[in-house]
Amino acid sequence: MSDLTFETQAHPARRTDAERAALMTNPGFGKVFTDHMVVARYAAGRGWYDARIQAREAIPLDPAAAVLHYAQEIFEGLKAYRTADGGAALFRPDANARRFRLSAERMAMAPFPEDAFVDAMRKLVEIDRSWIPDTPDGSLYLRPFMIASEAFLGVKPASEYLFVTIASAVGSYFKDPNGTVTVWVSEHFTRAAPGGTGAAKCGGNYAASLAAQAEATSQGCEQVVFLDAAERRYIEELGGMNVFFVFADGTLQTPPLSDSILPGITRDSVITLAREAGLTVKEEPYTIDAWRADVRAGRLTEAFACGTAAVITPIGTVKGREDNFTIGDAVAGPVARRLRGMLVDIQRGTTQDSHGWFQKVF
Ligand code: PLP
Ligand code: COI
Repeated sequence: MSDLTFETQAHPARRTDAERAALMTNPGFGKVFTDHMVVARYAAGRGWYDARIQAREAIPLDPAAAVLHYAQEIFEGLKAYRTADGGAALFRPDANARRFRLSAERMAMAPFPEDAFVDAMRKLVEIDRSWIPDTPDGSLYLRPFMIASEAFLGVKPASEYLFVTIASAVGSYFKDPNGTVTVWVSEHFTRAAPGGTGAAKCGGNYAASLAAQAEATSQGCEQVVFLDAAERRYIEELGGMNVFFVFADGTLQTPPLSDSILPGITRDSVITLAREAGLTVKEEPYTIDAWRADVRAGRLTEAFACGTAAVITPIGTVKGREDNFTIGDAVAGPVARRLRGMLVDIQRGTTQDSHGWFQKVF
């Protein structure tokens, strides 16, 4: 147990009910921010200190701060949901705390205590409770992150860090919450390589994905499908979500975890729920050639993306320099819809949770 405690310094002038209501009408994703944030500082030899919940404000940063030069940065993404009794709950915050620690290790950063991480999420949800949307697709998206704040231009792990968590009232990540997405197979750009940082949630992975994302957008696609860096054959994941394939015989398949795939908490939850529902789930490599052939032959009936932001979003069309194929009628398939229902019911507390995933905040 860490002895880090968060002092609360409430915002002296929170947004009014009317201001908040206006901002929360159609919030989209990641544009509407709450009144508070969490901050904590770290210094080598001192450990974590000065932890507090405070008014959301700009972060003062020395222009020599290591993060600005060598990108020593990690982040997380998790959601708080409004429950039917007017309370709020988090989904598997302990899993995010653990992944945050593993990301810190990979990026040679100071680990943030896992219990303090969960405590910080709970405190931010409590103080900004009026920002949790009560719409069917709405939630409060929490974005914890850590940056190397030491002012030093030598290339080495920094000795000072800043932990921050901001919160954003969000609706669905994609425009149509009930529709499908079109994905772009990136043949030239890769996201992560063996021995690299793909399994860590560091900002650099996303920076590396943006040229491919821009290419996807210019081709009318919402997300990029990244292939493995060594052979450019095996499907790894999308720019910001994991991927599953559903076959006509009812089995599910998802690429196995490696050091170039982010171990999604939604991915792990989907595997558990699908197996409990009696479905066979294989964690095995799958190539782009097999995907194309299986769709043409009618062996593959559905594919879907999954992640905190995306929840479960069916993939309708796959495009690439050599590809343009549609899965089924490009509508949400029954397996994706069923799994999404099971997941969302647990997240929102409308069904019994036997896994300890649903964690009531108040
Ligand atoms: N893969 C990438 C690259 C992601 O950014 C995310 C989102 O966090 C995921 C997968 C899904 O992870 P999770 O389900 O933990 O949100
Ligand atoms: C998340 O799902 O939390 C992510 O970080 C992915 C990104 C597309 C917002």
